[in-house]
Amino acid sequence: GDVELGDFEHYMLKEIFEQPQSIENAMRGRLNLDNATAVFGGLNLTPQELRGVDRILLTACGTSWHAAMVGEYLIEEMARIPVEVEYASELRYRNPPVPRRTLVFGITQSGETADTLAALREMKRKGHPTLAICNVVGSSIAQEADGGIYLHAGPEIGVASTKAYTSQLVVMAMLGLYFGRLNHLSFDQGYRIIRAMQALPDAVRKALTTQDQARKIAEKYQTSNNFLYLGRYFNFPTALEGALKLKEISYIHAEGYPAAELKHGPIALVDENTPSVFIMPQGVVYDKVMSNLQEIKARGGPVIAIASEDDHEIDNYADDVIRIPTVEEFLQPIVSVIPLQFIAYHIALLRGCDVDKPRNLAKSVTVE
Ligand code: G6P
Repeated sequence: GDVELGDFEHYMLKEIFEQPQSIENAMRGRLNLDNATAVFGGLNLTPQELRGVDRILLTACGTSWHAAMVGEYLIEEMARIPVEVEYASELRYRNPPVPRRTLVFGITQSGETADTLAALREMKRKGHPTLAICNVVGSSIAQEADGGIYLHAGPEIGVASTKAYTSQLVVMAMLGLYFGRLNHLSFDQGYRIIRAMQALPDAVRKALTTQDQARKIAEKYQTSNNFLYLGRYFNFPTALEGALKLKEISYIHAEGYPAAELKHGPIALVDENTPSVFIMPQGVVYDKVMSNLQEIKARGGPVIAIASEDDHEIDNYADDVIRIPTVEEFLQPIVSVIPLQFIAYHIALLRGCDVDKPRNLAKSVTVE
């Protein structure tokens, strides 16, 4: 492509390091402290239509689908609007009942994923307002949707999505704020959400200092053939995304799971050669995830923890710990995914894989 690599060995690494900037670009001009809400220029819906939304349907594929899952938790919590998440490839042929006044979002970095486009068209045909959340300006989905929100992340070249994902998460948080302020969120709550979001670029900059630790962990576990990624609540999708990154670029089998579901199957996989990555920053589910972690330790499984910088307990239980800066709980997925991107990148490098162009995968999948 015509995008310069600069000092970076791979586009993926370059794009990981661009995240403080791409996150800032996603928020630029969209956080309004005077009204304590988010502002989007291209929704193309009247205030009446927007206020009338009483359900949201998010549809996507791959990493974008993980962003949708975080979106579900965020929007439901902030706006108390029921949110449904559907794989586009399922939605397009399933014909589920979608109630009136459901706003449909297609989330796609490229704006060209065939299934996502088709699912959006199908919803449009049924009379729903459709919006696109995408990165590529003028892409097919941007042209077909009624309106949308651009990520402004700049071109993403690496096949494994990194900066587009964190930008999608930022957009999800802004949508939670926006619909929250149309409904029950107070000025003060909206204001505090904006302040927390404005601290994100610095938090992500700090999280980028975890690369060396991630490289050491990669060296230690590079020959493992199975990994588990575990998290709960906002970091359940982070577990899915961490596992997907590893699969995509290092060709290692990995499963992402909600940590409490371990006991319903995946715990049978645990042995001394199967590392578990726990995404467990401080928060309401911390103690619960800690007891899930101890179930793994008791069965001889190595544990890598992604934990808060001020967590003094975790060193007693995990074999390896990567510390990430503290942010509001709803923003944790944006910070906690960074070390997982590094772990996947360095394991792939050590195993001699083509990080930017993994076998069998394409940057945008324009066939169904
Ligand atoms: C492909 C890419 C993934 C991406 C998915 C969805 O599978 O390899 O990285 O998450 O498509 O792409 P989209 O452009 O729709 O976000």
